[in-house]
Amino acid sequence: MGNCYSMEEQKLYQQRRLQQHKQERQQLHFVKRNQVEVRHESAKSLNMPENSASSAPQAPRNVKDLRKSPGYSNVDIFTYEEMTLATKHFRPDLIIGEGGFGIVYKGVIDENVRPGYKTVEVAIKELNREGFQGDREWLAEVNYLGQLRHSNLLKLIGYCCEDEHRLLVYEYMVSGNLERHLFRRVGSTLNWSRRMKIALDAAKGLAFLHGAERPVIYRDFKTSNILMDADFNAKLSDFGLAKDGPMGDQTHVSTRVMGTYGYAAPEYVMTGHLTSRSDVYGFGVVLLELLVGRTALDKSRPSREHNLVEWARPLLNHNKKLFRILDPRMEGQYSVKTAMKVAHLAYQCLSQNPKGRPLMSNVVDILENLQSTENPEAILQSGGSGLTLYKVPRDTPVTKSEKRLPSSSEREHNVQRSKPGKGRSKSEPPTDCILYSPSPDFR
Ligand SMILES: Nc1ncnc2c1ncn2[C@@H]1O[C@H](COP(=O)(O)OP(=O)(O)OP(=O)(O)O)[C@@H](O)[C@H]1O
Ligand SMILES: [Mg+2]
Repeated sequence: MGNCYSMEEQKLYQQRRLQQHKQERQQLHFVKRNQVEVRHESAKSLNMPENSASSAPQAPRNVKDLRKSPGYSNVDIFTYEEMTLATKHFRPDLIIGEGGFGIVYKGVIDENVRPGYKTVEVAIKELNREGFQGDREWLAEVNYLGQLRHSNLLKLIGYCCEDEHRLLVYEYMVSGNLERHLFRRVGSTLNWSRRMKIALDAAKGLAFLHGAERPVIYRDFKTSNILMDADFNAKLSDFGLAKDGPMGDQTHVSTRVMGTYGYAAPEYVMTGHLTSRSDVYGFGVVLLELLVGRTALDKSRPSREHNLVEWARPLLNHNKKLFRILDPRMEGQYSVKTAMKVAHLAYQCLSQNPKGRPLMSNVVDILENLQSTENPEAILQSGGSGLTLYKVPRDTPVTKSEKRLPSSSEREHNVQRSKPGKGRSKSEPPTDCILYSPSPDFR
């Protein structure tokens, strides 16, 4: 989004944004009101993994604490005046998104904002004080991202906590979120190798969280929370739902069920017992979305295809059927062998039995291996060296129950038409679970 909006365009954009936000509001409020209760518990118990911690010995438990001992050495504290300057007075055409927490602006911190500051593009998220998320959620994000540092986690540059104002300042991820690229963009630039690299990056982020001395469960793994930089390096954002994992002889942590429809692990939805394997399931859903190019829930599809996992998982281990469901936009970009390995990995991650799912560290190893043995150049140059490029089998008979796959252009059309489903499908969990649908992206 540039700065060259005409007044009319700006007005139209704002109208569209407000309209979309209004449509989502009821639902988000319901969700976020309940999230606050859980996040209270989460913020209280924040004990950060030592191997990734900054110098802060203990996470502040509330804003008063944070003000007394102002945070983390690698996180800057900004004034509201500086935030106003960085966002050009929160100019509407600098809005790059909005979630349940509040509006996200693109901004710049430079000499004009703070003398001597090295110019940096940032994303600034302002807590909506009228919303249901408050200090606790804001603090949880500061505490987790203030201490966790990894190349596949979004970097928190700083925050502002002045009077009633609560803002978060992140590194700016120029390519935006994965959801937009995969499902909303016409002419997707996400080819096979890029998708596999994104999967690997995200897996590394999760493996880092799970492997910490005090493991962290991310709990909200989904395409809209995976952000990408100019080179499509992917990072996990949004630690509002993150939770300390089980310690010692604990097998799980008990929580109220929260997350997003379509991504939450079945046993977690049923029992509220949370383990790092719940994140592995969420990862499986995203991997499946990357393979098939469809959203986890899509009500615009025939009813038996509404729920991506239910529909596609049984086909992942079925060679011929697998190649009929892979995203046709990636046709010719992968070898049969590799595609089958990735499909099998997704199948395992989506196992109903949590113990049947691999650890994220195994997932990283598998994806890393696949990348090193096969990059797109290697495929194209390999000729007859044993790798078989996948081609859609033209003469494969299509049974009545497996209608033909739409062509690329039909698919683009469908993708544009369909927003992620919001209602419950027959496979979805009962309504007392706090699961929510992906929030709108206004870009
Ligand atoms: N650091 C960033 N760089 C670039 N864009 C960002 C950044 N942070 C957020 N965004 C954009 O703003 C959008 C809204 O972010 P936010 O995390 O507030 O909500 P969400 O993830 O869409 O919904 P939810 O409230 O469910 O988390 C993101 O989807 C993304 O497109
Ligand atoms: Mg988010």
